[in-house]
Amino acid sequence: MSAYVQKRLGELREQIRRHEYLYFALDSPEITDAQFDALYLELRGLEEEHPELVTADSPTQRVGGEISGQFAKVRHRSPMLSLQNAFDEEEIRAWDRRVRAVVGDQVTYVCELKIDGLAMSLTYAGGQLTRAATRGDGMTGEDVTANVRTLRSVPLTVRPLDGLPETFEVRGEVYFPLAEFEKLNREMEAAGRPAFMNPRNAGAGSVRQLDPRITASRNLQTFMYTLDPAGPARSQWDVLEGLQAMGFRVNPNRARFESIEGVIDFHSQWHERRHHLDHDIDGVVVKVDSHDQQLELGFVARSPRWAIAFKYAAEQAETVVEDIVCYVGRTGVLTPVAHLRPVVVAGVTIRNASLHNEQLVNEKGVHVGATVTVQRAGDVIPEVVSVRDPQPGWRMPARCPVCGGEVVREEPYVAHRCINPFCPAQRLERLRHYASRGAVDIDGLGYSTLQQLIDRELVKDPSDFYRLTMDQLLGLERFAEKSAENLYKRLQDSRTPQLGRFLYGLGIPQVGEATANLLAADFGQLDRLRSAGEAELLAVEGVGPSMAREISHFFQGHGGELIDRLLEVGVRPQESARTAPGPLSGKTFVFTGTLGGITRPEAEELVRSLGGKAASGVSSKTDYVVAGEAAGSKLEKAHRLKVSVIDEAAFQRLIDESRR
Ligand code: IVH
Repeated sequence: MSAYVQKRLGELREQIRRHEYLYFALDSPEITDAQFDALYLELRGLEEEHPELVTADSPTQRVGGEISGQFAKVRHRSPMLSLQNAFDEEEIRAWDRRVRAVVGDQVTYVCELKIDGLAMSLTYAGGQLTRAATRGDGMTGEDVTANVRTLRSVPLTVRPLDGLPETFEVRGEVYFPLAEFEKLNREMEAAGRPAFMNPRNAGAGSVRQLDPRITASRNLQTFMYTLDPAGPARSQWDVLEGLQAMGFRVNPNRARFESIEGVIDFHSQWHERRHHLDHDIDGVVVKVDSHDQQLELGFVARSPRWAIAFKYAAEQAETVVEDIVCYVGRTGVLTPVAHLRPVVVAGVTIRNASLHNEQLVNEKGVHVGATVTVQRAGDVIPEVVSVRDPQPGWRMPARCPVCGGEVVREEPYVAHRCINPFCPAQRLERLRHYASRGAVDIDGLGYSTLQQLIDRELVKDPSDFYRLTMDQLLGLERFAEKSAENLYKRLQDSRTPQLGRFLYGLGIPQVGEATANLLAADFGQLDRLRSAGEAELLAVEGVGPSMAREISHFFQGHGGELIDRLLEVGVRPQESARTAPGPLSGKTFVFTGTLGGITRPEAEELVRSLGGKAASGVSSKTDYVVAGEAAGSKLEKAHRLKVSVIDEAAFQRLIDESRR
């Protein structure tokens, strides 16, 4: 009997895996959904009768029973890199010339679509999926294995290609299909919850769910494109074919060319065709095919020289402004937002666009009823680029739309602020800020949970988080035993944040992430920082007179009281190691504008890893201002203060040299 059952279980699993692959990876099912369901139900039934025969890699085990709690941080075996960008034909031709100058004239390029999703690393050991991790900052990501196991196009077991070692890694993109995204947002709105801004955010949110069943319900998709080590593959094309042969979902829209003309042609063809895809693309990734040539070309800072993202410009559409509404942020700043007649831009419905501040509303001439052109690019907030019939004269409300408090504009700033410190909107945002990822990072404290905690008068400031009891959490809507327990545990675990994150989470006026880290690195301990005078603060990179005044004022006033309350409930910020010495010790960098091959946090981390400092504002203490595209006022200030200004290429040379 048991032998029969075992055999049947094996057959069913094998068949289901095959049909999942045909359906989810190749989009070409051979059987109907009903036939598939019959196989699945038979398997599940047999396993229920024989729980001792259930295996971890059975197709029924995609969702494990346990909810994982917070995500563990995991270090990538090799960094997950970024790509350099080319924005037009001229730039892609220049890249082609640089490639040929190194490897000679015989080059084949592989063109792949640049999926606007989130990068994912999958580790297989002994043919089993053992770990899935997000990209994070490129060096460390988050372990999201339980969630990624629920994605039907990710094989749980594979037969490795001949020549692959026991453990290997596959990388690619996870994305939220556009139709699924629209469906999810309709559901969110119906439930009175905030809609996701774009498919990419929704995808990131879905992969970071604490309950894998939610991830499973979102129908995320994948495309894989990297195999490390490459085993028998000698080229990128081999890699893509090898991945496909092992059962991964590989994008069929790819091609090889021996001239850059072919690449340019592929790029322009997909400019139109991309609207028929079920996902966003923000360009074409061009890769040198041969692995030998890739090796010869090597890397610059955090991106390979053998690949480049050939980007598309942001997409635009016309619509009408139905209303202009003000939102109140953490510091009381009012941000006007245009509510738009819904319009589809690049496959996604846009309903809102930020207008930033009163001055910008009037410079553009935005008014209720205006016909405007809006634009959406990848994961940035939709923007109003122009107005057909501009009319100046829009005014900020004189009273806060949330609490009715007084609204003032503090010259010379352009922002208007609600100055009521008890304004509920500000309170909500301050709590959310403390718990946010760059700050103390308490997963699971989203807006809806915070709003409930505020409404029940359970929390007023972050110190109240640490007084919450299990019973109080259990009383919240949508909280069951398990979720309450998880949140409770995460709250307890968050009592020992790194000093820099803690300082950032306090929301000291003018102090962003970079400055908070510099303060932590310079003072090392909270006590030393609290007792520092303005003169000592001024000695910190990136801190100018007005910021020094704000910081000291903050510690003497309500900020100091908040810290005392946090200490009282047992919060203990961890002392910060002084920056380790390195080749860039004593050098301070400020980044401005958009960098091409690396994101700003990555560039700042790179500087810190080599012993240097990254500041947010330019002062006479700055050694280098690294100017990317569309650099603004910081660049002017650098010129005025005669600080060295370098471009991204020069920055990368500097980094390359410091590493030698
Ligand atoms: S290759 C070393 N191929 O774009 C190069 N990346 O801007 C590794 N991306 O972080 C990337 N589609 O998340 C590559 N077909 C594709 C891609 C792709 C999307 C993303 C990837 C990467 C980012 C770089």
